[in-house]
Amino acid sequence: MEEISLAPPRGMRDFYPEDMVLRNRVFDAWRAAAVAHGFEHYDACVVESLALLKRKAGEEVENQVYAFQDKSGRDLALRAEMTPTLARMVAARQGSLQFPVKWFCIAQCFRYERMTKGRKREHYQLNLDIVGEEGVSAEAEVLAAAVGALRRMGVPDEAYRVRLSSRALLSELLAKLGIAERFHAGAFLALDKKGKIPREEIEAIMKEEGLDDEACRKAFDLMDVSSLDEAAAIAGPDSPAVAHLRDLFALLGLYGLGGQVVFDISVVRGLSYYTGVVFEAFDTKGEFRAIFGGGRYDNLLTTVGGKPTPAVGLGFGDVVVGELLKSLGLDRAAARPDLVCVGYMQPEQRDAATRLAAKLRADGRAVDLRLRAQKAKAFFAHAAERGTHAVFLGPDDIARGTARMKDLATRTETEIALA
Ligand code: HAM
Repeated sequence: MEEISLAPPRGMRDFYPEDMVLRNRVFDAWRAAAVAHGFEHYDACVVESLALLKRKAGEEVENQVYAFQDKSGRDLALRAEMTPTLARMVAARQGSLQFPVKWFCIAQCFRYERMTKGRKREHYQLNLDIVGEEGVSAEAEVLAAAVGALRRMGVPDEAYRVRLSSRALLSELLAKLGIAERFHAGAFLALDKKGKIPREEIEAIMKEEGLDDEACRKAFDLMDVSSLDEAAAIAGPDSPAVAHLRDLFALLGLYGLGGQVVFDISVVRGLSYYTGVVFEAFDTKGEFRAIFGGGRYDNLLTTVGGKPTPAVGLGFGDVVVGELLKSLGLDRAAARPDLVCVGYMQPEQRDAATRLAAKLRADGRAVDLRLRAQKAKAFFAHAAERGTHAVFLGPDDIARGTARMKDLATRTETEIALA
């Protein structure tokens, strides 16, 4: 028989109870921040039709899809991200939904990635999306919710920056430099690789897309633009993209996010569906990969067969933020949740202990009832490890009809009736 490895497949994770502390901390903050910003919870199945996920845009995700056929020969895949599914779900109910919709979910996503720091082949992603709003208030709102989640995890504002730009702006700038619009999509995906692969390789990709040497050089030079004012000087006084970005930054100031969100023309994003504002959050020390990323994607709904509808959203993964929380010492739960450990000395006290546990649970308390008689020392060692309170029953307690509940933090005891 083939020997079965006890490790999960490469790139996949197990979550032992101690690992769930950090995961729950992240998920709780995500949910609370999304709800606090008025997003509604939705969900979908992890398996999608391959047709929905298949794209021919030269994006990385296209080659990373876990695809398979079911027994009826359907071409299916594990979702690599949530956005195509969201677009499908919104398009399916486009006639009845009240737009704009603000939806969130926590989605497990699968990508066959090269394994590097911060990259797994499976991760959970908070998705926050607003569909049906073309104004910058939608961008501001998803960013505020994501920053709200970081704050709830205890991450200080100085520990990260959201770098934000706009593909619409980049498009205007490329056009000003004489690069025709049909080359822009290819240039975006190539420029997104800046800093990740050597310049020669990026130029090779751009040349494949049809750009000549001069266009490549000009596109690269644009990445050195260091401020929105500098970009505005190239784009000219009537640039809609510049006006849009100025409006967004002013609005972000009102949200109290003026310090955390900065203009950075080099943020382009690697997914082809973005059409406008794009952003990515990074830790300030530059140790980790992107904490979250997203942007505006006004054409995706038509791609899946819906009516033209503007949309903005982001994905916020659990892996990078988990590393960040560990590095900041924020990975432990703030307080141990209330748990009463109930144990007993001899088999004769089992029924009384069971009745007591049932009563405490009916009162709404969480109870860890020991499953067999134990010595006091072993019971209290277990209780100290797991619980906040402990009740240990012996023959004398049964005779008296009372027991003592010990508060393990303060070491104080209270008398409780067993009847
Ligand atoms: P993305 O940039 O591909 O965007 O992923 C968003 C976030 O998910 C990343 O910033 C990172 O935190 C996390 N992430 C992605 N891939 C991995 C991986 N292999 N391992 C660990 N973490 C990962 C999207 O997925 C877009 N669909 C986001 C979006 C939603 N745009 C609009 N709405």
